[in-house]
Amino acid sequence: MAGRYRCLIATRLRQVLSANGKCQTDSKLPSVRDLTSKMVLPPRVNTSTFSIQVPCSSVLEMNKGSSSSLTAYSQALSGIVEEFETDCHLPEIVLVNEPEMPAKPRDKKGKWVPSQGPSFNFRLPTLEFTKDVLHVALKVRTKDWRRNGLFPQESPLKVIVEFSSPNVAKPFHMGHLRSTIMGHFCANIYEAVGHDVIRLNWLGDWGTQFGYISAGLKDFALDINQVQSENDAIHSLYQIYVQANLKGEKDPKFASLVRECTEKLENGDSELLKQWSIARKVTIESLEKVYARLGVYFHEYHGESMYTNQANQKVLDLMRTRNLLADRDGKQVIPMTIGKNQLERDVTILKTDGSSLYITRDIAAAIDRAQKYAFDRMLYVVENGQTEHFQHLFAILKRLGFSWSAQLEHVKFGRISKMSSRKGTAVFLNDILDEAKDRVREQRELSPNTRDVLDSDDVLEVLGTTAVVVNDFSSKRLQNYDFSWERAVKSTGTSGVRLQYTHCRLFSLISKENHSMSSLLEVLEEDSRFLAGELTEKEAQNLLWRIAVFDEAVRDAYIQLEPNALLRYLFALCSDISKALKCLSVQNAESDAKRLARLCLFGAAKSVLKEGLEILGIRVLNQM
Ligand code: ARG
Repeated sequence: MAGRYRCLIATRLRQVLSANGKCQTDSKLPSVRDLTSKMVLPPRVNTSTFSIQVPCSSVLEMNKGSSSSLTAYSQALSGIVEEFETDCHLPEIVLVNEPEMPAKPRDKKGKWVPSQGPSFNFRLPTLEFTKDVLHVALKVRTKDWRRNGLFPQESPLKVIVEFSSPNVAKPFHMGHLRSTIMGHFCANIYEAVGHDVIRLNWLGDWGTQFGYISAGLKDFALDINQVQSENDAIHSLYQIYVQANLKGEKDPKFASLVRECTEKLENGDSELLKQWSIARKVTIESLEKVYARLGVYFHEYHGESMYTNQANQKVLDLMRTRNLLADRDGKQVIPMTIGKNQLERDVTILKTDGSSLYITRDIAAAIDRAQKYAFDRMLYVVENGQTEHFQHLFAILKRLGFSWSAQLEHVKFGRISKMSSRKGTAVFLNDILDEAKDRVREQRELSPNTRDVLDSDDVLEVLGTTAVVVNDFSSKRLQNYDFSWERAVKSTGTSGVRLQYTHCRLFSLISKENHSMSSLLEVLEEDSRFLAGELTEKEAQNLLWRIAVFDEAVRDAYIQLEPNALLRYLFALCSDISKALKCLSVQNAESDAKRLARLCLFGAAKSVLKEGLEILGIRVLNQM
């Protein structure tokens, strides 16, 4: 859509630069993608034409060393455009001194700011553009944004997205919730762009918590099989962990039993291993149930337990051959200097008793994954608080000589605070989703619009999860925020309920007219220029433009791995849809052509809204 036009213009610009920049060789010319990225889209406030602008300064900067003046460019560009007019439809190009749209898109408050200087202003051919936008949006999605010129030129990559990664027998905290939905989004958008994604859950399934569990089972005379058969086994496991922890604090004899169990497990005691594997299984089973509620899934469940003694031995040997290790009273450490302040710090790799640490297992896992999957990129979607851990991890892998360490990225996010649920503070994902559903139900029962209609359980379930996800993505990824149930479940403004509601309205409008996306596409293909000519109202044009810049929003969300960028776009889209629905009646349209044109417009809007929501990881409702 907009990206296609940006690229068309960039291609022409490149030709002009090449013809005018006498001292430039072709290889020094900026690529079409480079040029594309310098262009600015107008905000479409009070403009009746569709246009794209290229700040003159950026053209000159790109063509440094050339003696051509701006006027020369302008003339040359007009010439070229005229030449191509018949086949590429870029009719008018003007050099504006007082541009109607800014070169620097937005200021800190998000307001459009005036341009710094003159720009080349490309007016897009309204009819062609309209037709194109409707056509692209109505077509079944191809899941291949890579082919859009706005996206970086890369061949399909193999990408591991590691996310969620909770700990067995410990609570699933808000950090895990954010990792789950953020990671799901990252995986979705990489797939939508056309990459090959492996979704990996890295369970904290090793370490002292198992010492607590087995000491607890023993002391409380419980059997792990009994726990397994319980309805909410994950809660029971957690209860045992909590009770054992409390007891360990007061009772030194119990604390030493915990240590003994942990050690036994590390050394491969078969009884304890059996217990451990049941606890792990129980955890995965109940996690899968709750992930399904969010539409989240994994290709692999890995865990820290995969990299215990043997794997670590290999890592240690490698570290020794690279001379990285130092002995500190029996502890094996790597001395590191890290961060802006170049702080010196020992990173412990092996404790005095020879047992491994969180980072040791992460090092072993990364090496193993590189061998197993030969990934091109690996994202670790983990909260901000672990930044230093990942700095250490990446630096150690680099010092071990692995060039792929440069392909690792810590996708971090801020903290959620003030989250409490009616059940208390120890939150499990299931409880959060249950409460979201309950609160949405209550809210809808109170609302005058929905009082008489009873939502089905499935609808409430989707509305509840949408509320949780949208609330989370309403803050930028790196921002910390205070959780508020009221904000999450509200039905107006920037809320998940409103997004779903808008989609349902469009769905019902289109199906009432006995149409579907494919039938609308057929209608459009029959006589697209004619239909496109019917969308002349301000509301129609604004909505069209919004639909056209969907690729811009997806691109921003992809480059920054920022779901908020896409969500903000979807809210703007919804508000344009509402305005258009108010003014552009389908049922009472003046003519049949207008009715069909409007249906196509709303169909295109619906299709973009759906695709955007799905990339965010939200199941889309047709009725509520
Ligand atoms: N299980 C860890 C925790 O709950 C998160 C794991 C993050 N991923 C990693 N590769 N270290 O804190």
